[in-house]
Amino acid sequence: MKSKNSGLLVALACLFAAIFCATAEVPKVAHTFVIGTNDFLLDGNRFQIRCGEIHAARVPAEYWRHRLQMAKAMGLNTVCAYLFWNLHEPKPGEYVWSGQADDAEFCRIAQEEGLWVILRPGPYACAEWEMGGTPWWLLKNDDIKLRSRDPRYINAVKSYLKEVGRVLGPLQITHGGPIIMAQVENEYGFFGKDAGYMDEVRKALLDAGFDVPLFACNPPDMMKNGWLTNLFQAGNFGSDVKQNFAKVRKIQPTGPLICSEFYPGWFDTWGQPHHTGKPENYLPNLKLMLDMGTSFSIYMAHGGTTFGLWSGCDRPFKPDTSSYDYDAPISEAGWATPKFFQTRELFASHLLPGETLPEPPAQNPVIAFAPVELKEVAPLFDNLPAAVKDETPRNMEAYDQGYGCILYRTKIPAGAATTLEAVAIHDFGYVFLDGKRVGILDRRGANAKISLPERSAETQLDILVEPMGRINFGPEMADRKGLIAPVKLGGKVLTSWEIFNLPLDDQMLAGLKFTGEKPASNAPAFWRGTFNLEKAGDTFLDLSGWGKGDLWVNGHCLGRFWNIGPSQTAYAPGCWLHAGENQIVLLDYTGPANPVVAGLEKPILDSLRPQMDFLKTHRPVVKLNLDSVTPVQNGSFAPGADTQEIKFAKPASGKFFCLESLNAQDGKPFAAIAELDLLDADGNAISHNGWTIAHVDSEERNGEDGSAENAIDGQTANFWHTEWKDNSPDHPHRLILNLGKSQVISGFRYVPRQGEGGGRIKDYRVYVGDNLVQK
Ligand code: GLA
Repeated sequence: MKSKNSGLLVALACLFAAIFCATAEVPKVAHTFVIGTNDFLLDGNRFQIRCGEIHAARVPAEYWRHRLQMAKAMGLNTVCAYLFWNLHEPKPGEYVWSGQADDAEFCRIAQEEGLWVILRPGPYACAEWEMGGTPWWLLKNDDIKLRSRDPRYINAVKSYLKEVGRVLGPLQITHGGPIIMAQVENEYGFFGKDAGYMDEVRKALLDAGFDVPLFACNPPDMMKNGWLTNLFQAGNFGSDVKQNFAKVRKIQPTGPLICSEFYPGWFDTWGQPHHTGKPENYLPNLKLMLDMGTSFSIYMAHGGTTFGLWSGCDRPFKPDTSSYDYDAPISEAGWATPKFFQTRELFASHLLPGETLPEPPAQNPVIAFAPVELKEVAPLFDNLPAAVKDETPRNMEAYDQGYGCILYRTKIPAGAATTLEAVAIHDFGYVFLDGKRVGILDRRGANAKISLPERSAETQLDILVEPMGRINFGPEMADRKGLIAPVKLGGKVLTSWEIFNLPLDDQMLAGLKFTGEKPASNAPAFWRGTFNLEKAGDTFLDLSGWGKGDLWVNGHCLGRFWNIGPSQTAYAPGCWLHAGENQIVLLDYTGPANPVVAGLEKPILDSLRPQMDFLKTHRPVVKLNLDSVTPVQNGSFAPGADTQEIKFAKPASGKFFCLESLNAQDGKPFAAIAELDLLDADGNAISHNGWTIAHVDSEERNGEDGSAENAIDGQTANFWHTEWKDNSPDHPHRLILNLGKSQVISGFRYVPRQGEGGGRIKDYRVYVGDNLVQK
């Protein structure tokens, strides 16, 4: 009797420890999770996955539990999480799994909060994250083929995934943890067709000890590319639920249906209108999936912030903002939005047997503070490290530098006004003669040439290059930064350079020498000041008085800022602030209009200020030359949302490609395009590198982001749309691409606007040529 009682006490004590001690080891309760013929099966029972994506790196680690509790209270039973390889392996073979990179802890907290986890370890993630999570150091190999079986790439992938298995393998459901599935690669069908490569990554995960079901995800139209019959396929889409699941069914006749990325909003890029999801699209489609019994993952349930210099860049060059609010149901600062409550209400009526919805946790306190002036200044040019000498300038990676900025310096002789030209600039080059700014090279305009004034004596030429995040999507991902040499003055190659590596790391910031002296108004400089708080709390730093750059608060890099918007604030989480004095440091490349910072209670995410942009000719006025040119193709697109591939009767060549819409499927005056790809002589999509919009007759930028760039950014979920809010000009509509150089084009791929709404083109004409457009 006695021994029986003590046994019971021990059992109770263990249970108590397991439930209440957050640090105690997770109990090894054996559950099973399998992909059945019709359903996902958890412990043998049908399990409808109601999942939402949250990235640990985009939420302060101190707030992980809060956000996971919010996710649970919204009605999710699972969270989906990418790992970012470049965060975990900053140098080859050196791994980081602590602090913001402690994804194992994130998974443990998820489990404690009653959530399952779908892990997406990469190696490639996309996710508007620098280079899609791929480490920059791979680019030190000049000709490396990323996302391929190139041994330099795939061997690095295998080592990384082995390490992922070591750290996260024990957290699989098969070992008592929360991870029920793991994803192989990410939307590979958008990028390539090599099933052998997908198989290598799949096997690398198996070798790393992953024994939960593996899967791949792709938009249904891309699933066939790189398809492995022994790998479960999930579909990514933000609309047209029935049509998209029908396409998945054609490829994968059995198995449960899951939309692995369902978009409630969208991310923002600098200079383009702020995105908000349409509730009339989001809720009915979500309800449809619930009613159909399919599974889904909301991308993003909570977007958070891309802290540090980790924000990526869309194709062909659309740098992402640091705010990754995404118009997600849980806002950037973790607040419950109307979409959160609508989602919770919907889920409440679709719970599985035994499920309950907890109340949301309290919102974190929010504070404001009055404007403070930053008075200490450290001009960048007075804070240079020792220089490296080089005959011709090379890209940043060649100097073993991954992030930050880089200064190239040489001497140029006296002479008449002339032009300075680089092959390309990645991404902004601030050009100075004897310390005075004379121009800006700008990748957005594919503009790597400026005029230099006359010099009466030998002059010091400085080109300070500010890279944005590397492109995270498509074949342009090998996005080396800095000056792409050679650099020519009046057509003559400049030699004898000094290179200053400015990595903007902790060591560099700690060594800055600040003074109280104000620099010239547009000189690149660090600015420092303090603000006092009675109590810490979340706040939004108003940066609208500043130009363009990066900022740090109490040593935490909060991201990038740029006065053109749409974000004018930076989220400063209360857990990184404290009562008393807090320090703020900003690096402003172009100089502030007013060097003050205030703390606001609400973010400003939707204030575009094109008038502040230094690129004044974003849409240059051009003369069109179409009347004298014969179209290479006349045709009619099929109705519906399917991708259509058009082959020309014979290949054409030219620097410009024009698609002209003559009318729309619904007879209305609008034209829209989700995506355009041009095919080379072999029928493969041509890289968008160096592409710009040469001309567009109309684009909606008030009612929604219908910018023309959306047609060439590789994303099929957004689109170019002609104006509909204040005007509605009629067909013909013309979108003309400048391909940077003359190319052979054998046809094109057109993705119609997805989802509800107009703009799908019917009759069209295509022109290709070197002289379709004149300045
Ligand atoms: C794709 C990717 C995601 C993300 C979204 C857009 O579907 O798979 O990583 O980039 O687009 O937010």
